[in-house]
Amino acid sequence: MKLLVINGPNLNLLGVREPSVYGTDTYEDLCNFLKKCVLNKDVELEIYQSNHEGAIIDKIHEAYYKKTNGIIINPGAYTHTSIAIMDAIKSVMIPTLEVHLSDITKREEFRKVSYIGLACEKRIMGKGFLGYQEAIEYFIK
Ligand code: DQA
Repeated sequence: MKLLVINGPNLNLLGVREPSVYGTDTYEDLCNFLKKCVLNKDVELEIYQSNHEGAIIDKIHEAYYKKTNGIIINPGAYTHTSIAIMDAIKSVMIPTLEVHLSDITKREEFRKVSYIGLACEKRIMGKGFLGYQEAIEYFIK
C-alpha cells in the first residue's frame, strides 16, 4: 500500500515553534517516528513537507498519478483557509485523513473551522505524533 504524509506550513520548525503547543520534538523526529510506524508493514511511505499552498496541491495531484492509496495530511494553517487544497483532495478521490498535533477545537476561534476536513474521511487531533500513527493504522486496517 502506498501512503503519502503531507505536512504543511511551519511544521518544518517543529521543536522550535511554540514548544508549549507543539512540544520539543523536531520535524526530523517526526519523520523518524513515521518511518518506524511502517517498519515491517506492507507500506510504501512518502513523507512530504511544504510551506507553499500550490506545492501541496501539486503533490496531491501527483499522488493520483502514482496511484497512492491514502493521504495523511496536516495542512497547518491552510486547514483554516484553503478551499484550493480541499478541492484538490476532492478531485483525486484518494481517501484522506486530517491530522493535527494540537486539538484545534480547544484553541482560538479561527482554528475551529477546517475546510480540509470537508474532504477528509476522518480527523485525528490533540494526540501529537501518535495521531499520525493512528492515521497510518487506520489505512493498514
Ligand atoms: C496544526 C494546527 C493549526 O491550527 C496550525 O496552524 C498548525 C499546526 C496542528 O498540527 O496542531 O500549523 O495543524
